[in-house]
Amino acid sequence: MRNVIFAAPFPLETTMRFARGAAALDGVRLLGLVQKPPPRDDARLFDDVVQVKDGLDAHHLIEGARILERRHGPIHRVLGILEPLQVQLAEVRHALGVVGTDPATADLFRDKARMKNELRRHGLPCARHRLITTWSDAEDFVAEVGFPLVLKPPAGMGCKSTWTIRTADDLRAALRALHAGPNNPALAEEFLRGREFSFETITIGGRVVFKSFTRYYPSPLEVMETPWIQWVVVLPRNIEGPGFDDAQMLGVRAVHALGLETGFTHMEWFRRDDGSLAIGEIAARPPGAHIVLANSYAYGTDMYRAWARAVVDDAFDGPFERQFAVGVAFLRGVGHGRVARVHGVDQANAKVGHLVVESRLPVPGTPRAESYEGDGYVIVRDPDTEVVKAAMATIIETIQIEYS
Ligand SMILES: Nc1ncnc2c1ncn2[C@@H]1O[C@H](COP(=O)(O)OP(=O)(O)O)[C@@H](O)[C@H]1O
Ligand SMILES: [Mg+2]
Repeated sequence: MRNVIFAAPFPLETTMRFARGAAALDGVRLLGLVQKPPPRDDARLFDDVVQVKDGLDAHHLIEGARILERRHGPIHRVLGILEPLQVQLAEVRHALGVVGTDPATADLFRDKARMKNELRRHGLPCARHRLITTWSDAEDFVAEVGFPLVLKPPAGMGCKSTWTIRTADDLRAALRALHAGPNNPALAEEFLRGREFSFETITIGGRVVFKSFTRYYPSPLEVMETPWIQWVVVLPRNIEGPGFDDAQMLGVRAVHALGLETGFTHMEWFRRDDGSLAIGEIAARPPGAHIVLANSYAYGTDMYRAWARAVVDDAFDGPFERQFAVGVAFLRGVGHGRVARVHGVDQANAKVGHLVVESRLPVPGTPRAESYEGDGYVIVRDPDTEVVKAAMATIIETIQIEYS
């Protein structure tokens, strides 16, 4: 039996899909490291669970992992999928002498300023950036790149505290809101104009063995800044040829530049209006936004299992054939409060129901979500990318959420 620690501070449904993938492998004893215990059905996945006070704190996680090690013997792997957990998990590995991504590498994938420095050092294009601690830093950077620019925390996620800044007054106010100062730099970036995409890999022993793309309609930041937009992610059926080949090369080089050995990666990139490419960011973890699920539908294979095979067994069962285009529509509406009613579901079903492979409709009574992932989702698939795109348009035009 191999002892595999899976850290899941909070038993989110998406997190538990990965736990299920790992629990289902041969010869794995799945050991949970949690802050909030999972519900009973999910708890059965684990052979043992240790609860820690702060599931995002490296010291607490190391203590918890040592308890599991004492009870069960040497640890084979330390896993977890949340973005804000990646460096701490690397510290647990380091403390227990477990193979896998080390703290310095994990940090390169977390710290957007260091990441961009490293990418640029390898000749890979990304937005110009500056860590801002004083107003004079800010002025210098504005003189260099002009407005608009993007301001964000150096290790942010999910577009939190990330804004398009158009004027010096906005910049001043936003730096204050971020409490920017000598001990707390804010990250300013040149504003990239163009279309945003993602690029996912499975990488094993430093070799990229699986590659996939999505296109964002529109960019997550635009979704956050425009309340009536419902976000759509499309996995085109065909991801070879012009428009993708150069991005694929860029993505593979980015994985190598940051030095990932084994795992899933999720890169965001832009095709600028002039056709050139720029990397937005890259994470050493599976993507969120149901992109792993969408890949399962595109390839007709269980990508959660593929993740587990990679990070537990160093194995890849592919190549997989991309049989379908897939679209994910994230449902949300304008307003405040709680979901009151969802309109237009029957009409949407009459038009595109035959393409739907999975959906989660907003649940009345639930507080309106803050994130661009909204209050629910619909996933469709078809061999024809244009059919999927049209179905996405139909869904977001037809389904309306009312809050009260
Ligand atoms: N330099 C930039 N130019 C244009 N848009 C950006 C830029 N940086 C970020 N964004 C937008 O903001 C979103 C969030 O920024 P990102 O760096 O990906 O941080 P995170 O996803 O970790 O919050 C991106 O997906 C993109 O839509
Ligand atoms: Mg991002």
